[in-house]
Amino acid sequence: MPVAEHDLEFLSTIVAERTGNVISSHQAYLVESRLAPVAKEAGLSDIRALVKELQRSRTSPVHDRVAEAMTINETSFFRDPSLFDAISAHVIPDLIDARQSQRSLRIWCAACSSGQEPYTLAILLRTRFPELGNWDVKITATDYSREILSKAESGSYSQFEVGRGLPAAMLVLNFDRVGMNWVVKPEIRKQIEFCELNLLTPFPFYQPFDLILLRNVLIYFDPGKKVDILTSAHRTLASDGYLFLGGGESLVSLETPFERQVLDRTVGYRPLYPSETKHD
Ligand SMILES: C[S@@+](CC[C@H](N)C(=O)[O-])C[C@H]1O[C@@H](n2cnc3c(N)ncnc32)[C@H](O)[C@@H]1O
Repeated sequence: MPVAEHDLEFLSTIVAERTGNVISSHQAYLVESRLAPVAKEAGLSDIRALVKELQRSRTSPVHDRVAEAMTINETSFFRDPSLFDAISAHVIPDLIDARQSQRSLRIWCAACSSGQEPYTLAILLRTRFPELGNWDVKITATDYSREILSKAESGSYSQFEVGRGLPAAMLVLNFDRVGMNWVVKPEIRKQIEFCELNLLTPFPFYQPFDLILLRNVLIYFDPGKKVDILTSAHRTLASDGYLFLGGGESLVSLETPFERQVLDRTVGYRPLYPSETKHD
């Protein structure tokens, strides 16, 4: 049975309050396909019953499950190859020069989904920058969804998943075959720290990051929340650091303390002093 409009509105509010993600009225199909299993899991007959259950209190584990189930987790290895080419050709060499005395690099994949993005970075660093072998390199990978993070942490991918974007030579060198799956080698996994983080909450980081990937997630927020998240990201980025968004995302029409920098076939963002907030 299709979701009634008033139920859709109610469910959109629950999701927006928790993750900030905006669900539009033409996404009813997504609500149906994602929330029918949540209703079943909670022992409820259908989405109408789920809505009634949610209306009984302001917060409960079922509210959180609904928000989590509505996240879009699409990702792949080397998604937007031109970005990783630019990171390899410009960003990492630049940071290696700038961090010679500290010999440390801090990278944050915000909204890392099932982990392909942070593993891509770790594999890229290992393959192309052997000189970083004796540096302190740490990748922090965060996401709202606990469920997707546990998949990321397992580092275990199907043949189909590794077939999306990962060159065969990199697969063989950096993964072990375990049963039907491919599992990221422990020495790569240990470079990445996975933790839950809702981008709507204050960021709990003490050391600035040199590189932040905030890709394919801002699209789900309204402009006000995008600016809030970008302003917080600015505070946690080193003054000579780099920020990258998804291929189809930009800061056009948002006032943010970043300036655009073209790097070959991709666009990155560099932090400005906050007083220099820009309208891109
Ligand atoms: C489309 S995936 C992007 C994955 C990866 N960054 C990429 O570009 O391939 C979007 C991710 O954002 C996460 N997300 C959505 N809202 C979030 C929030 N409020 N805080 C943290 N993560 C969120 C989702 O759980 C999902 O895993």
